[in-house]
Amino acid sequence: MTHLLILGGTTEANALAKAVAEQGIPATYSYAGRVENPRPQPLPVRVGGFGGVDGLASYLRDHSVSHVVDATHPFAAQMSGNAIQACRDAHVPLAALTRSAWTAQEGDNWHHVADINGAVAALSGAPQRVFLAVGRMHLEDFAAQPQHHYLLRLVDEPGALPLPNCDVVVSRGPFTVEDDRALMQQHGIELVVSKNAGGTGARAKLDVARALGMPVLMIDRPALPQRTELSSVAQVLGWLAHSGVNLGV
Ligand SMILES: NC(=O)c1ccc[n+]([C@@H]2O[C@H](COP(=O)([O-])OP(=O)(O)OC[C@H]3O[C@@H](n4cnc5c(N)ncnc54)[C@H](OP(=O)(O)O)[C@@H]3O)[C@@H](O)[C@H]2O)c1
Repeated sequence: MTHLLILGGTTEANALAKAVAEQGIPATYSYAGRVENPRPQPLPVRVGGFGGVDGLASYLRDHSVSHVVDATHPFAAQMSGNAIQACRDAHVPLAALTRSAWTAQEGDNWHHVADINGAVAALSGAPQRVFLAVGRMHLEDFAAQPQHHYLLRLVDEPGALPLPNCDVVVSRGPFTVEDDRALMQQHGIELVVSKNAGGTGARAKLDVARALGMPVLMIDRPALPQRTELSSVAQVLGWLAHSGVNLGV
């Protein structure tokens, strides 16, 4: 019996869920539960952590999961690492649906840092107007550099924020170049801080930065152990078919 578990929370996971539902493949979509109103999916959805490697391995066994596709965000390294270990422990095949990292083009002025801590350290210095496009999870780290004025773009209305000078825009991607240009100019942005997420949905701010000659502090992706990586929904369907899943039932 096939039971695919999709570790989700990304545009790619949503596209996979649509294709899997259309193919009639029995599957469950898993959200971490970070946002208040996650997008509805055409598959049964579960929400919340599994409880580490052991919790996920138990889930795989208890729900007779036959395949796992890790389609989480490239910075969801904890979840991805857990999936590798749990699938190994439970003898369940795993593939990751990934997207290529962004690479600098001519005209880009990117300064690479290895992680959030590197970005915080790189922000020491004179006050600037900073578009801090790193999501909600790590804002406290940036409280160590309170001299800047930060523009935050978040999926949900935040509660109290750890940054003394900030504007918040509540908005969910994908974002366009026109809108990001207007936003960045309206807020007088001088520097963009971005995770190297890849994909198209969050790319516009980088295109605007290039056009305006603005520097970008680019947080490089975390390293992950070796795993099967696929780069399109079609490849995932091929991988499933190759491992005996009946498509198009
Ligand atoms: N990190 C980002 O920049 C980013 C951006 C956009 C979307 N997202 C999405 O937001 C979610 C959380 O990201 P994160 O950076 O907090 O991940 P993380 O640090 O790698 O994960 C922390 C813990 O959250 C739980 N978790 C994460 N993703 C899950 C999922 N899809 N289903 C069930 N539990 C999940 C797991 O808890 P247990 O150990 O208890 O199982 C995991 O150990 C992911 O689904 C990711 O795709 C993340």
